Amino acid sequence: MGKPKILLQLDPDRQASVFDAVVAIDAGVDQLLVRNAVEVAHVRDLVFGAIFTRGLEDLPRTAIFVGGSNVAQGESIFEEVKRTFFGPMRVSVMLDANGANTTAAAAVLAAARHIPLRNAIVTVLAGTGPVGQRVVRLLAREGAKTRVGSRSKDKAQHVCDTLTSVVPAAMLEAVAASTPEETAAAIDGAHVVIAAGAAGIELLSAEQRIATPTLRVAIDLNAVPPLGIGGMKATDKAQDRDGCVCYGAIGVGRTKMKIHKAALRRLFETNDQVMDAEEIFALGRLLESE
Ligand SMILES: NC(=O)c1ccc[n+]([C@@H]2O[C@H](COP(=O)([O-])OP(=O)(O)OC[C@H]3O[C@@H](n4cnc5c(N)ncnc54)[C@H](OP(=O)(O)O)[C@@H]3O)[C@@H](O)[C@H]2O)c1
Repeated sequence: MGKPKILLQLDPDRQASVFDAVVAIDAGVDQLLVRNAVEVAHVRDLVFGAIFTRGLEDLPRTAIFVGGSNVAQGESIFEEVKRTFFGPMRVSVMLDANGANTTAAAAVLAAARHIPLRNAIVTVLAGTGPVGQRVVRLLAREGAKTRVGSRSKDKAQHVCDTLTSVVPAAMLEAVAASTPEETAAAIDGAHVVIAAGAAGIELLSAEQRIATPTLRVAIDLNAVPPLGIGGMKATDKAQDRDGCVCYGAIGVGRTKMKIHKAALRRLFETNDQVMDAEEIFALGRLLESE
C-alpha cells in the first residue's frame, strides 16, 4: 500500500466543478484537493505544494486535473502547470475544461467505429466552439478531410488557420453553415457529420440529414432540446436511422465518462503523464480495443 492518491483539482470558476470532483472520487482518488477561482498567477505556488511535499518516489501518487467551464482559461492554467515543472520535479496533469477533451475524444472514437477516418469527408457543424475545435483537431490528426462549419466563414477560417499551424498536414476547409442551403452544401458528399453546437440549438434538420445519402455516421453532442440534429434521440448509440448510424449526446457521454475515469487513473501510473486531447483520444482508442 503506497501513500494516498491525491488529486489537485484546479478550476478557474468561482465555484469549482462538482461534476469533476465526483468523477475523480469515482475514479478512485483517495484525497481530492479542490481549488476554485484559480488564476495563472496562483499556479506556481499551487504546483510547488504538489511537487515539494512528498519524496520523489511518491510523486506518482499526486496528480493535477485542470477543469472549469472556460476552456481558454483552462488551457492557460494547464500551460503554466507544465512550465512550473522542472527535471524530475513533476506530477502527472490532465486538461479537461468543460469536458472538451473527453467529449471530443468520445465523438471521434464513435465515428471511427464505423468508418476509417483517413480521407473520409467529415463535416463538423459549429466546429468553432471549444468542443468542436478539439473534434476538428483530432480528425485532422486522423487524416480526415474535415469541413469546419460555422455561422461565420471567417470564424471557421480562423479555426482552420490556427489548427493548421499545430497540425501542418491537416486537410481542413472552412464552410459557412448559417442558412439551410449553406448547411446542405456543408454536408453534401460528407460521410460523417458531427454537430458540436451550443446547447438547445438545432443545426441540421432530419430532412437535410436524410437527403444526404453519403452520410454514414451522424453524431450530435447537444443533449438539450431541440437537439443539434433533428430526428435523433440524445440516447442514440449506434442507432440506425434511415441508413445512417446515429449517436446522441448521451450515447457519446457514456464513452466520455469511461475515458474521463480511465484518464484520471492513468495519471497515477507515473509522475510524467500529460493528458491533453491527443493523449486522451489515444487512451480512448486503447479502451475500445480491450
Ligand atoms: N456529452 C457531453 O458529455 C458534453 C460535454 C461537454 C459539452 N457538450 C455539449 O457539446 C456541445 C458543444 O460544447 P461547446 O462548449 O463547444 O459549445 P458552445 O461553445 O456553447 O457553442 C459551440 C458553437 O455553437 C455555435 N452557436 C452558438 N450559439 C448558436 C446559435 N444561437 N445558433 C447557431 N449556432 C450557435 C457557435 O458556433 P459559430 O458561432 O461558429 O456558429 C459556437 O462556437 C454543447 O451542446 C455542449 O452542451 C457535451
